[in-house]
Amino acid sequence: MSFIQVNSLWQQYGEQVVLEQMNLSIAEGEFCTLVGASGCGKSTFLRLLLGQETPSRGKILLDGQPLPGEPDASRGVVFQRYSVFAHLTVLDNVALGLELPNAPWLGRLFGAAKQRAREQAASLLQRVGLGHALDKYPSQLSGGMQQRLAIAQALIMKPRVLLLDEPFGALDPGIRKDMHGLLLELWRETRLTVFMVTHDLSEGFNLGTRLLVFDKVRHDPHAPQAFGARITYDIALNSDRRAARAALAAVNPALMEACT
Ligand SMILES: Nc1ncnc2c1ncn2[C@@H]1O[C@H](COP(=O)(O)OP(=O)(O)OP(=O)(O)O)[C@@H](O)[C@H]1O
Ligand SMILES: [Mg+2]
Repeated sequence: MSFIQVNSLWQQYGEQVVLEQMNLSIAEGEFCTLVGASGCGKSTFLRLLLGQETPSRGKILLDGQPLPGEPDASRGVVFQRYSVFAHLTVLDNVALGLELPNAPWLGRLFGAAKQRAREQAASLLQRVGLGHALDKYPSQLSGGMQQRLAIAQALIMKPRVLLLDEPFGALDPGIRKDMHGLLLELWRETRLTVFMVTHDLSEGFNLGTRLLVFDKVRHDPHAPQAFGARITYDIALNSDRRAARAALAAVNPALMEACT
């Protein structure tokens, strides 16, 4: 049984079909990168995986079970723009995730439990290179540091699936490279299953174990909303990444343009 199974998934908003007839089978620990033209439904797909939205048709199964009706700790998410709480320090941003689910009545922990949560948060922040910034506020951090914080905030809940929606899109190339290294290290350590949307094909080909290309296969010029995107290429990236990239460029040059 696969870890995540997507069966005949459709998502439609009013008359607009965004995703159609998607089928996918993902093993635990895979790192999937998702590419495709702007507006083709990549973020929509992540929201469906997160449980933030329910599909119009079809199913997503996690360990053979339908996804819970709303986001829970099994799935963590990092968006392109910083999603951290501006009024909380770096340490509190991460510790909060441990506090809320463990103290459902009060919303806060006290005493030893609080201390434990803060120690755990501090050690993860150390791991992502923010050990020196625990008492800073997000506005005092650089873009790369804010994304490190967002990743720590997602990982503190020990999710089994990490959803990344263009997490490094706003970062300078040099910092992106550091973030790639960090993400790969964390992935190897935790064996998380990762879905990462990117507009950067190099990122798509170099980071993952599997590249998923979203594209429309059907078009009706008189009804542009009638058809949605599917996964048109599903490419294993374990062997020769450069050859895989060249092969895709040969069959779909338009995608190369859309993604750079
Ligand atoms: N909640 C919603 N209600 C109505 N339409 C929506 C909703 N969410 C997304 N859409 C539409 O679905 C389509 C796909 O949007 P989505 O954000 O998933 O694309 P994307 O592939 O992530 O694009 P980008 O690369 O620009 O981020 C768009 O046409 C968008 O307007
Ligand atoms: Mg998007």
